[in-house]
Amino acid sequence: MNPPFRFTTCRAGSEATLKRDIASHFAGELTPAFMKPQFITWKIRRADFHPPKSLSTFARVSGTSLGLCKTLDDVVEHARKLGGKPLRLHVFPRLTDEDGVDAATWQRMDTLTAEIAAALEQAGVQLETNQPVAYGDLILDVIAGETDEEPIFLGCHEHQAGMHPHPGGVPRISLPEDVPSRAWLKLEQALAWRGWDKLDLRGETALDLGCAPGGATYALIQRGMNVLGVDTGDMDARVLELAKSKGVRFDHWRTAAGRLNLTALPQDVALLLCDINLAPPEIIPTLQRIQDAVQARRLVLTIKLNTPALEDRAHEFIDTIRDFAPAPVFATQLAGNRREICVCAG
Ligand SMILES: C[S@@+](CC[C@H](N)C(=O)[O-])C[C@H]1O[C@@H](n2cnc3c(N)ncnc32)[C@H](O)[C@@H]1O
Repeated sequence: MNPPFRFTTCRAGSEATLKRDIASHFAGELTPAFMKPQFITWKIRRADFHPPKSLSTFARVSGTSLGLCKTLDDVVEHARKLGGKPLRLHVFPRLTDEDGVDAATWQRMDTLTAEIAAALEQAGVQLETNQPVAYGDLILDVIAGETDEEPIFLGCHEHQAGMHPHPGGVPRISLPEDVPSRAWLKLEQALAWRGWDKLDLRGETALDLGCAPGGATYALIQRGMNVLGVDTGDMDARVLELAKSKGVRFDHWRTAAGRLNLTALPQDVALLLCDINLAPPEIIPTLQRIQDAVQARRLVLTIKLNTPALEDRAHEFIDTIRDFAPAPVFATQLAGNRREICVCAG
């Protein structure tokens, strides 16, 4: 029988967007049931309706809702009903700040993880702990409230390509104090989402469009990449200093991306980044021209969706990018994203 409820988690402030997005795709088939900040459950209205595993670009995690659990015994009882496949345990906080999750909260998640894992093992439920998370892994999502007194929300989902490998889609990366901007965090989260944080990028070339003041470029240089940055604005002095000390090349072309001399661009681009604060209808055609010229192997694009009207066109923008970007193309709203989504291709 089809499970009657699904759950989704999202960024703080994206709840209304998520509701609109799901309503526009599954009008009448899925209706909101229970809402808390950054968390919505959905009632499946017809038993013969099978929603996709991932419900929305604005949902960081989507899955089958198993309900609220007041005790560890409740968690064990639900987990035992899931069948013979080993379970991968993902414990994460419902509330995640765009600048990261604090150490005390992660500590609380670690304690809860240890307690639940012990209870499951004692009950004979097999756990999958090998890394990395693989296609088809069955994940038990344990979503913790603001205090230990709040009941836990339990769900499960099957890991698919493009889904986040980290519990709740929140890798444990925090923004260092000494980097030029929080774009450092967004880039590191994007790389972690796609597993590209494990790539050896040393000596490779990145083209960073909208590079100032330089948080993302700084992260790329830390990874040993040579970077060509394009921006009309000024770079933070730390970017050049780091490039010097790492012995890599950083060039800054102080021009608008739409005015680039395409024939002068590097030919072997491993990574094309774009974080330009222009609306998608303005920036995507420029991106296409640049990608057609450089044929970058991977793309990390921050697509700004500053109005509800632009948010509601997210799928149209992703489809346009799919026409010129290397496959596969996935989109998500990273933990560190504000009114924007991240599209990765390649
Ligand atoms: C969100 S900031 C980028 C942050 C940057 N990625 C970092 O790592 O610090 C947006 C940038 O886009 C730049 N920008 C706006 N229009 C542009 C254009 N047409 N071409 C290039 N850069 C542009 C702005 O000057 C601004 O520095």
